[in-house]
Amino acid sequence: MDFNLSEEHLMIRDAARDFARTELLPGVIERDTHQQFPAEQVKKMGELGFLGMMVDPKYGGGGMDTLSYVLAMEELSKVDASSSVIVSVNNSLVCWGIETYGSEEQKQKYLTKLATGESLGAFCLSEPEAGSDATSQRTTAIDMGDHYILNGTKNWITNGGSADYYLVIAQTDREKGHRGINAFIVEKSWEGFEVGPKEDKLGIRGSDTHTLNFNDVKVPKENRIGEDGFGFKFAMKTLSGGRIGIAAQALGIASGAYELAKEYSKIRKAFGTEICNHQAIAFKLADMYTQITAARHLVMQAAWDKDNGNNYDLSGAVAKLYASQVAMETTVEAVQVHGGNGYVKEYHVERLMRDAKITQIYEGTSEIQKIVISRSVLKE
Ligand code: CAA
Ligand code: FAD
Repeated sequence: MDFNLSEEHLMIRDAARDFARTELLPGVIERDTHQQFPAEQVKKMGELGFLGMMVDPKYGGGGMDTLSYVLAMEELSKVDASSSVIVSVNNSLVCWGIETYGSEEQKQKYLTKLATGESLGAFCLSEPEAGSDATSQRTTAIDMGDHYILNGTKNWITNGGSADYYLVIAQTDREKGHRGINAFIVEKSWEGFEVGPKEDKLGIRGSDTHTLNFNDVKVPKENRIGEDGFGFKFAMKTLSGGRIGIAAQALGIASGAYELAKEYSKIRKAFGTEICNHQAIAFKLADMYTQITAARHLVMQAAWDKDNGNNYDLSGAVAKLYASQVAMETTVEAVQVHGGNGYVKEYHVERLMRDAKITQIYEGTSEIQKIVISRSVLKE
C-alpha cells in the first residue's frame, strides 16, 4: 500500500477544504435549524466537479480515483455532513452504479447530467418492511413486455425531494427471491411518482429525506439496469463502494469535532490555566487523535483496495464500522471538552454529535457491517 498523497490529491483535498470553509460553513447552523436543503451549495459543488468525481471524463466526470473522493468527503464532512451525504449518494451510489452497470444509452442520457451536477440522483432500496433485511422488497415491478409497472413505497430516501433521477430497486418475480429483483432508473416527472413527506431528523437536517410512492409508474424496459434479476446484486455491489464514502464522512465528522475541541482547549481557562493543561482534557485529545488516525488508515485502505482492483466488501465494511464508532465517541467527547458551550449551536460540536449518529445507521447499520465482516472472515 502506498498512501503517499500526490500533488493532485493534495490539490483536491485543499480545494474541498477551502470550499467547506468559504461556502458550507456560513449558514450551516441556519440550514440545520430550519432543515434547509443546501441548493445553492450543491449547484456550486456540481460546477466544481464534486458531484461526479470518479466518473470518466467522457461522461462529464472528473476521472479521479477513490482516494481523491475520500479526501474530499473528509474535508466537506468536517464542516457540513448534510452536504457531504448529498455528494456521497450522487457519486458512489448513483453515478458509480450507472457507470459500472448501465447501458451506453443510460450513460449518455442520465450519467452525463448526474456527473456534472446538472441533475441530482437518489438511491432507493429501503422500504418500511425492508431496511436491514433488504431482500424483503415489497415494491413490485411487473414485466409488461416493453415496459414494467412499478408499485410500492420507498422510505428514508436521501435527496428524495431534490433529485431528478432515482435508482429504484423492486421485486419482479417473487418466486425467485433475491434473484427476481431488478434495478431501474426512474424520472421524477413520470406519472404515478409521488414525493411523500419529509422526515424531521435528529441530524444531517440540511439533507432532505423523504418517503416516495410509486403508483402504476410505467418504466421503459431500457431503463432496467443489467440483466433481468441483477437488481439485488447491483444494490449490494453499489453499497460496498458507498460504505467507503460514508466511512470517509464519519472520519470527517470526527476530525472536525477533534479540531474544534483542540482549539477550544487551548483558549478556555479554568483553575488558572488553559484546560488543555489538565491531563484529563489532554488525554481526551490523545484518544481522539489516535482513533482518528486509525480510522483514516482504514478508510484509505478501503479506497486503495477499490482503486487497485482488490475486493473491498470487507475493507469497506471494516472502515465504516470503525469510523462511525470513532465519529460517535469523538463528537461526544468534543462536547464534553467544550463544557456548557458544547451544548449550544454556536460552537458546532453538538451538531457534529447529532450528525455522527447517522453514520452508524445508513448504508447498513453497524450490526449489518458486523454480519458482512464476520461472514467474510469466516469464509477465509
Ligand atoms: N456483492 C455482490 N453480491 C452480494 C454482495 C456483494 N457485496 N452481498 C451479497 N451478495 C449476494 C449474495 O452472494 C447472494 O447471492 P447468491 O445467493 O446468488 O449467492 C445474495 O446477494 C443475497 O445475499 P445474502 O444471502 O447474504 O443476503 P441476506 O439476506 O443475508 O442479506 C445483507 C445480506 C448484507 C444483510 C444485506 O441485506 C444488506 O446489506 N443489508 C443492509 C441494507 C443496506 O445497506 N441498506 C442501505 C440503503 S442505501 C442508504 O442507506 C443510502 C444512504 O443512507 C445515504
Ligand atoms: P431495521 O432493519 O428495522 O433495524 C433495526 C435494528 O435492528 C438496527 O439496530 C439493526 O442493526 C438491527 N438488526 C436488523 N437485522 C439484524 C440482524 N440480522 N442482526 C442483528 N441486528 C439486526 N435507504 C435508502 O435506500 N436510500 C437512502 O438514500 C437512504 N437514506 C437514509 C437517510 C437517513 C437519514 C436514514 C435514517 C436512513 C436512510 N436510508 C436510506 C435507510 C437506511 O439504510 C436504513 O434505515 C438502514 O438500512 C436500517 O434499516 P431500518 O431503518 O429498517 O432498521
